[in-house]
Amino acid sequence: MSKRLWQITEFPFQPERLQHFETIFAIGNGYLSARASFEEGHEGDRPATLVHGIFNNAPGEAVPELAVAPNWLPLRITIDGTPFTIQTKAREYLRPAGGIVLGYRRTLHLDRATLRREVLFRAESGSTVRLEFERFASLDQHHILGQRLIITTLDSAPTIRINADLEHVPDNDVGHWTCANAAADTDQISWTAVTSQSGYRIALASRLIAPGCVESAVEENRATLATTFQLEPGQAATVDKLTSIYTSRDVADPLAATLLLNSAEADAYDALYEQHCRRWQEVWDSSDFVIEGDDKAQIALRFAAYHLLIAAPREDDDVSIGARTLSGLGYKGHVFWDTELFALPPLTLTQPNIARNLLAYRYKRLAGARQKAKEYGCAGALFPWESTDTGLETTPQWSDPQPDGSRIRIWTGDTEQHICSDIAYAVLQYWRWTGDDAFLCAMGAEIVLDTAVFWGERVEAKDCRYEISCQIGPDEYHENINNSVFTNRLAQWHLEQALKLLGWLADNAPDTARRLVKSLDLSEMRLARWQDVVDKMYIPFDRERQLHIQFDGFFDLEYIPVLDYQPRVGGIWPFLGHERALRSQVIKQADVVMLMALLGEEVGPREVMLNNFKTYYPRTDHGSSLSPAIHAWVAARLGLDEIAYEMFEQAAATDLENNQGNVADGIHAAACGGLWQAALFGFCGLHLTEDGPQVDPKLPAHWRRVSFSVTYRGEKHRFDVVNPAV
Ligand code: BGC
Repeated sequence: MSKRLWQITEFPFQPERLQHFETIFAIGNGYLSARASFEEGHEGDRPATLVHGIFNNAPGEAVPELAVAPNWLPLRITIDGTPFTIQTKAREYLRPAGGIVLGYRRTLHLDRATLRREVLFRAESGSTVRLEFERFASLDQHHILGQRLIITTLDSAPTIRINADLEHVPDNDVGHWTCANAAADTDQISWTAVTSQSGYRIALASRLIAPGCVESAVEENRATLATTFQLEPGQAATVDKLTSIYTSRDVADPLAATLLLNSAEADAYDALYEQHCRRWQEVWDSSDFVIEGDDKAQIALRFAAYHLLIAAPREDDDVSIGARTLSGLGYKGHVFWDTELFALPPLTLTQPNIARNLLAYRYKRLAGARQKAKEYGCAGALFPWESTDTGLETTPQWSDPQPDGSRIRIWTGDTEQHICSDIAYAVLQYWRWTGDDAFLCAMGAEIVLDTAVFWGERVEAKDCRYEISCQIGPDEYHENINNSVFTNRLAQWHLEQALKLLGWLADNAPDTARRLVKSLDLSEMRLARWQDVVDKMYIPFDRERQLHIQFDGFFDLEYIPVLDYQPRVGGIWPFLGHERALRSQVIKQADVVMLMALLGEEVGPREVMLNNFKTYYPRTDHGSSLSPAIHAWVAARLGLDEIAYEMFEQAAATDLENNQGNVADGIHAAACGGLWQAALFGFCGLHLTEDGPQVDPKLPAHWRRVSFSVTYRGEKHRFDVVNPAV
């Protein structure tokens, strides 16, 4: 298989996309991720290493966010006294004061989660060197980060000085860290700090394996290891920097653990890297999706899978994937439904242990969900719309200032309640695919049933039917609306599944059934009401036009032909404005279409599905990155091939081409997971039958063949689908 289809390259340097590349070239290992900032730093960069679970509510901040860890990347290099830098401005980058960058290429290797950069640099003295940088976050030993620099002289014998630092990141700090302490030992440096409100301790230690005599020192805001050496013409030197990192979430004494690990691994770069690559190969053996006939789609899918795989916690079941992964500070690292309905399903199918970790994270936060339900006067569990380490609602109530200085009230934390069914859906999907009854009995069932308890109380009995008022569906342009078809139908489905699940438990795990009936108070009366809701839930539907009505009164709003506003970047909300969007039929993202993706034919016959799609697609502006992939999936199932592929391409471009314009803030986890699902469930039509997983392909015409594997009940099933149309 061609290496090219595993690589994404920046060539030459593109200063205007500095922060975009920092995000898309992030490396990680499920424990942490590091943005792809340069070792030597750069004007306008946003270096950030984010470690799962290290949230902090800094003084004066409305909500907690992930605290940026100390920076372990710095390698400051001078060649004959000329500092190595790459200047910001396009024209200057070729001729920075004192040195010249003759060539530059940077490549992310998706197969081995490695970032490499090669630079040809001429110092003021005239010495030309080639600098080859490499970095990885070990997948084998999650607490180790490796960096290698190979310097080759081409035409002279320069003196080279290297400083390897650990340093505080001031830019992103709104007061997250206290008690910072840098220390320098004979051959290693360390950095410790404590988060100001949550009290997490972090420790990093670095060691430099390099020619010359390495010395350490503590300077203002940094600890440094320095070495100076000379090279003969044509000679190469290898410099390795190994950093270890722990937090008090991992061990009682992070500094001791860090120092110990670091001394044990002192000169082990090659062995560590080899193990790292081996582990990645195992991961890709299960998770790769191969496309023949469409290189662009192939790279995009691998890129999407890569970003989910580096963000997904492999050994920790107390953290989850934030909406922007760990590659940027967008949405402050908070966890949304993006995880359960977008990122998680492909992991359920290919890396079930990781999916289990993500679901356990929710289970461990049931207390917060119960508290939230109680605040609404209901029993049961209502998960927060935005979740962090505590499990409490952390959605900010007010937006950042708009261009006119005003702030908009954010209602999602109050009324976007479909989150509890989204999580239940993910639990049941995981259970069906894995057959993990142990998880179901220990955690999953309690999630599904207690969120059902919430719905059973939340629904309102009106005129012989049940309604749900004041909700926000996936389409967040419309707030506090009544009878969102997505929410009502999913709540109905949820209660139906909860009843079935309880029946299954009674037959197969009676102890669990008894325990839950008692602890969640699943009385006869409560269960009878669930059944009544299932029978009489109001699902807004226009009989004449045979289509679902997104919510009460939707078609009375102003119609705006969204498809006419082309070409454009992002949604049309910014020029409609908040108020007009509220009063219009413009839809932010797949809503009824999302329901069709999740429930398929259960939503209605093909005619209804087509009517829904043809009605809602031209009204959707894809103002959310969650939207295009779901449209691709559903369009593919409906045989709307052209739209399916166009939407797939749009989803694929979300991060790679920055088509929402905000990738500097991090990768869109949901777009990545959505893309993968569009391929699996949309184009391949993957589904479960009594005989296990089956496909029903509707591949884009030019895809010659696809192959992938999924794990079903512990067994790998390999699919090789040849396109009969080619
Ligand atoms: C979308 C939500 C999503 C959130 C985080 C919003 O713009 O409308 O559906 O959960 O972004 O990605």
